[in-house]
Amino acid sequence: MAYKLSIIVSLISFLFIQSALSIDPLFHICFNSQNFTTNTVYDKNLRKLLTSLSYKTPPTGFGLGSIGQYPHDRPYGLSLCRGDVSRKDCKTCVVEASSEILKLCPNNKGAIVWYDSCFLKYNDIDFFGKIDYQNRFAMLNVNNVSMIEPQKFNQRVKKLLTNLSKKACQKSKMFAKGESEMEEYSKKIYGMVQCSRDVSGVDCKKCLDDAISELPSCCDGKQGGRVVGGSCNIRYEIYPFLNLH
Ligand SMILES: *[C@@H]1O[C@H](CO)[C@@H](O)[C@H](O)[C@H]1NC(C)=O
Ligand SMILES: *[C@@H]1O[C@H](CO)[C@@H](O)[C@H](O)[C@H]1NC(C)=O
Ligand SMILES: *[C@@H]1O[C@H](CO)[C@@H](O)[C@H](O)[C@H]1NC(C)=O
Repeated sequence: MAYKLSIIVSLISFLFIQSALSIDPLFHICFNSQNFTTNTVYDKNLRKLLTSLSYKTPPTGFGLGSIGQYPHDRPYGLSLCRGDVSRKDCKTCVVEASSEILKLCPNNKGAIVWYDSCFLKYNDIDFFGKIDYQNRFAMLNVNNVSMIEPQKFNQRVKKLLTNLSKKACQKSKMFAKGESEMEEYSKKIYGMVQCSRDVSGVDCKKCLDDAISELPSCCDGKQGGRVVGGSCNIRYEIYPFLNLH
């Protein structure tokens, strides 16, 4: 892939930040350099769209919509909550994302913001159903694995996430989580994969395979890693990081 993957390094405190409901964005990209100004039709439609997404998304964890006249005044928007978050936390996250993205990218016609529990994206062209290979970043836990040979660990991570990808792409929710026991070390690898539900099952698999193929360049032998994008994301850790309910 001919794009640059931004890599965010998280320190040990990462683990502790994660245990509280973190409300800071993980990352954002103002990807469309076309501008709009306050109080124009695009601006008003975008605000309406964001409000509607904050209602549409929580019941199922996924929301999609567009409002206004094509080509100049019609924003398309999408939001997705992580597969395990409650309706309430989903709502909190999408509401926060809607207001924050307008501060982070105040005039861009297209932008995306990611949180731990959700992401939100909009653009002035219809992007629904297409794999987003442009907007993507990686995060890693800087600590090296020490209890197991890194190469062996990497293989297990890959196997776990590949297994989960097959599952996720067959489900309507397009989300799968799971664990891989490292019996000999009494440690587990915890993983999750998720696709945005506007893409097909086949494209979900393509997107996840592509994200998994980024792991050697971001997260080789690291205790935790994520590749997060506009159509799918993957994550693994050596501690449980999902809600238990
Ligand atoms: C959008 O606005 C920014 C800041 O004012 C400016 O630098 C940029 O050139 C504008 N982009 C377009 C496509 O007009
Ligand atoms: C992890 O391993 C790499 C390569 O051996 C080393 O350069 C790096 O300093 C290590 N990182 C930590 C946090 O120990
Ligand atoms: C992957 O799936 C296969 C077949 O279901 C299973 O035997 C294997 O243990 C799984 N591996 C991991 C790492 O989850």
